Amino acid sequence: MIILSIETSCDETAIALVEADISGTKPTAKTLAHVVQSQIDIHKGFGGVFPAVAKREHSKNLTPTLSKVIEDGTPRLTFSDTKEIDWKKIEEILLREHDLFTAFKEYIESNKIPNIDVITITRGPGLEPALWVGVNFAKALSMAWNIPILPINHMEGHALSVFFDDEGNYRDIKLPALALLISGGHTELIAMSEIGKYERVGETRDDASGEAFDKIARLMNLPYPGGPEISKRAKLHREKFPALTFIPKFKLPRPMIHTKDNDFSFSGLKTAVLYAIKGMTLSDDDISCLSREAEDAIRDVLLHKTLRAVGETGALSCVIGGGVSANEYITNSIHDALITQGITTYKPTRLLSTDNAVMIAYAGILRIWKGISTPNFSYDFEADGNLSITE
Ligand code: KG4
Ligand code: ZN
Repeated sequence: MIILSIETSCDETAIALVEADISGTKPTAKTLAHVVQSQIDIHKGFGGVFPAVAKREHSKNLTPTLSKVIEDGTPRLTFSDTKEIDWKKIEEILLREHDLFTAFKEYIESNKIPNIDVITITRGPGLEPALWVGVNFAKALSMAWNIPILPINHMEGHALSVFFDDEGNYRDIKLPALALLISGGHTELIAMSEIGKYERVGETRDDASGEAFDKIARLMNLPYPGGPEISKRAKLHREKFPALTFIPKFKLPRPMIHTKDNDFSFSGLKTAVLYAIKGMTLSDDDISCLSREAEDAIRDVLLHKTLRAVGETGALSCVIGGGVSANEYITNSIHDALITQGITTYKPTRLLSTDNAVMIAYAGILRIWKGISTPNFSYDFEADGNLSITE
């Protein structure tokens, strides 16, 4: 089974081709090709992601990205001649995307049909205008190539991004698991009793952890996205000043760390930084020192609440997903604490931490394998910016 996967929920136009085998007792999922066309350089100028800009860039990038992925996957694909296509219907689907329609039509008419079995597409959550472009593109492609489609929840993609190893073999992750999903838009703790069965046991009441990194970085004039930048500086600062000999110049709160629930609050952290640096001209060392303290504060809260939720839910393993899972300081802290309780923590490879289409294919493969979802030709589903993983 060959899956073409499309993801446009935020600022990456991502398409992947994954070859899956679900006939055995355990599925396999080998990535044949994947492209992540990042818009970061464009959004950097704004200090964050603007939905209208993201949508415009997705429109522009989708057809060339598809073309590249099919080209990369060609050694493993077979092709057949294009059949009669109802362009009127496809034009209706891409009504608001005139340039995309033109590029798409030109591509489809000048290329043969690859033997793809399923199209997976992120339906939400995320930036709604960005999601819509991807959803409409996927519907148009499904119609043009006569391939069934399967809408996927982006957060489920993050949660399931660890279920295959680098070689595409299924990882036997003990269930029930606790998923810590940490990204630019979300911070939630999900009890996963089975693939497809999720219960939210904790979440942020305001900003997401990635958002906290981004906003704090912005206050210090560091570029977007703030997470990697803060993390890089924090690491260097820790190497330069080991913990035992270091007295921090800045002290930030650990919001909600002692509350008797699994919820988070990160907006106060940003405000605390704002007050801590008010009227100051920050030296390079100040920025690094503050980066370290901010990362420590976010790490402490994420660690504390994850341990709490693991205890409360009786999880046998822990899964970390989402862009912030690229942060090794945070993931190592959680891993080291849980391994002493015999609980293994899984995190995605670097490529699958931040937004990508491979994880969306994984979610589709696992849902089809489990018999939870069946790809079809119904085009009445909508993009949903607030889609919950528990829906
Ligand atoms: O999952 P993702 O790529 O997009 C969303 O679905 O939001 O996550 C992006 C977020 C950004 O806020 C970014 O700052 C954060 O992930 N991030 C990191 C790191 N790499 C990316 N945060 C902390 N440390 C990192 N190394
Ligand atoms: Zn994401």
